[in-house]
Amino acid sequence: MARIELCNLTKSFGAVVAVKTLNITIEDGEFVVFVGPSGCGKTTTLRMIAGFEDPTSGEIRIGDRVVNDLEPRDRGLGMVFQTHALFPHKTIRQNIEFGLRMKKVPPAERAQRVREVAEMVHISHLLDKMPAQCSGGETQRVALARTLVTNPSTFLLDEPLSSLDAKLRRELRAECDRLHEALKRTFIYVTHDQEEAMTLADRIVVMRAGEIVQTGSPMEIYSNPVNYFVADFFGSPSMNLVAGEVLQESSASRFRSARFEVALPKHFRTAKPGATTLGIRPEHVAVTRDGKGDVELPVRLVEPLGKDTLLYFDSGTERAFVAVTEGLDMADIKVGERIALSLDQRRIYLFDDKGQRIGNAK
Ligand SMILES: Nc1ncnc2c1ncn2[C@@H]1O[C@H](COP(=O)(O)OP(=O)(O)O)[C@@H](O)[C@H]1O
Ligand SMILES: [Mg+2]
Repeated sequence: MARIELCNLTKSFGAVVAVKTLNITIEDGEFVVFVGPSGCGKTTTLRMIAGFEDPTSGEIRIGDRVVNDLEPRDRGLGMVFQTHALFPHKTIRQNIEFGLRMKKVPPAERAQRVREVAEMVHISHLLDKMPAQCSGGETQRVALARTLVTNPSTFLLDEPLSSLDAKLRRELRAECDRLHEALKRTFIYVTHDQEEAMTLADRIVVMRAGEIVQTGSPMEIYSNPVNYFVADFFGSPSMNLVAGEVLQESSASRFRSARFEVALPKHFRTAKPGATTLGIRPEHVAVTRDGKGDVELPVRLVEPLGKDTLLYFDSGTERAFVAVTEGLDMADIKVGERIALSLDQRRIYLFDDKGQRIGNAK
């Protein structure tokens, strides 16, 4: 077991810089999720750690050892790929034990280990079936088992659940979590799905265009995004982001857009006047049917979900302004109705014209 360090790790494919001077230390036993939109360099990063891709420059260390020149099989890591890639003409049992055969593990021990991991991911009943007879979720469990059986110090998982439907994804997500708890090994997990990152990670690494934008615990990332990109990427429904301007007047700071005019909390007193985007999460917008608010907007769509109701308002731009209210109290609101909204002062974010966060929300 060992910590993994990436030092100025860079990978170019011709003119494309897929990964740009990445620096991060992953602690022993940590569950780290690399998340970002498609093409931001997640797979390339993971493949370099695994040893399937040579870095253009920079170092990968496992423990105190630089492993750049070490073969994948000598790094003690186990990779679960984006596509399951099982051998189609081997049974599930043969697929799982393949890695052990390669390592010349004796048959009795092999059988024992296959039994153990099959039990761990609940596929004991599938061992004599062929891959074509397994469902997507089962195949993914087999892929996990195949890596588990080699007993790696670190698991590298590249979007292992992306081909599954929502319910199976949730189920297997819980499974990954459980395995991490039980095995106490390091997990490095790659996904484009913010919800997967939020639910699984001890620490999230947000990537964009080959670079790390922010690292932190899920709650840090959610409540303290460093910029517009991170604010927009995490949360469902997404944060409301309204383009407008900051006005600094003698008495107070205010934010104004075509439809909004809100007083800003004190800590924005130093914000530069001018073009600014205001951000507020849907759960921090209060909806009042009779009272006054910071803004009155017409309802565009009502989405009753049972536990909550989502209200989409016409914000004057293509992007709706969203509020979430508990239960079904607001489910009977009519499209077109004008509703007063107030924003929780403590939860207002501001972003400058470059998308950088201004000040700190208190
Ligand atoms: N083998 C390759 N040859 C050329 N370009 C590649 C190769 N692999 C990845 N890339 C490019 O590198 C960038 C990052 O890719 P990737 O790491 O697969 O992103 P992600 O996994 O985040 O979707 C993309 O622009 C992609 O097109
Ligand atoms: Mg990828």
